[in-house]
Amino acid sequence: MDEAAIAAYEADVRAFLAERLDTMGADAGGLANFYLRKLETGRVLSRYDRELLVLLAGEARVVHAGIGIGQLSAALALQGSEVLGIEVDPRRHAAAEALRQRVAPLARYTIRAARFSEGLDPAFAAAGATLLFTNVVASWSEGDYAATIAAMQRFGRTILDLARFGEARPEPDARAALADRLGQAGFALRPLSFRAQNTAFVEARLLRA
Ligand SMILES: C[S@@+](CC[C@H](N)C(=O)[O-])C[C@H]1O[C@@H](n2cnc3c(N)ncnc32)[C@H](O)[C@@H]1O
Repeated sequence: MDEAAIAAYEADVRAFLAERLDTMGADAGGLANFYLRKLETGRVLSRYDRELLVLLAGEARVVHAGIGIGQLSAALALQGSEVLGIEVDPRRHAAAEALRQRVAPLARYTIRAARFSEGLDPAFAAAGATLLFTNVVASWSEGDYAATIAAMQRFGRTILDLARFGEARPEPDARAALADRLGQAGFALRPLSFRAQNTAFVEARLLRA
């Protein structure tokens, strides 16, 4: 997406957010403060969203886990990737589906209301796809981490933010502990050196024996 396309896209999403807030309210509309701030500032795409759009341009298939309202997933689909979005929160999933219908009805973009990795079909051909996690600040249980890391092993690569994966990790030690855990699960990590502040995006690829 060039700057003009991004500006037009952001204007469409802002209009969507404003209408949804007006007609449904923030809570029922699935618009957490994170999204209300986007409306206030006018910046729909976060800096990491923009960096990921560049990094993933030309990517054939992306599974985006924890899409929120899907401002990045829809843009990736408009950019030409086939995208499967997975979102566990029902209100946010409904907002993502409404945004999909509004801005990307013809794109190859489907959204599942489920928890990752339960929402991933066992027959899904993951080896040729990129798995993506952005800003997944949640309260994952140990079981969630174990299932997520096991599912990552099916994918060609995973892109994730060590600072926001399952929970927030503002401290370098906590990010290092997660990197260590992923290393022990067999992944080689490559830092992505994004300019987005307070992020630590990496590409994880499984080292095969
Ligand atoms: C802080 S929001 C960020 C949304 C979006 N990724 C972004 O960067 O704008 C995190 C989202 O991840 C979702 N989420 C957390 N854990 C999940 C899981 N295991 N499967 C699916 N969605 C999940 C939450 O419901 C929430 O909507």
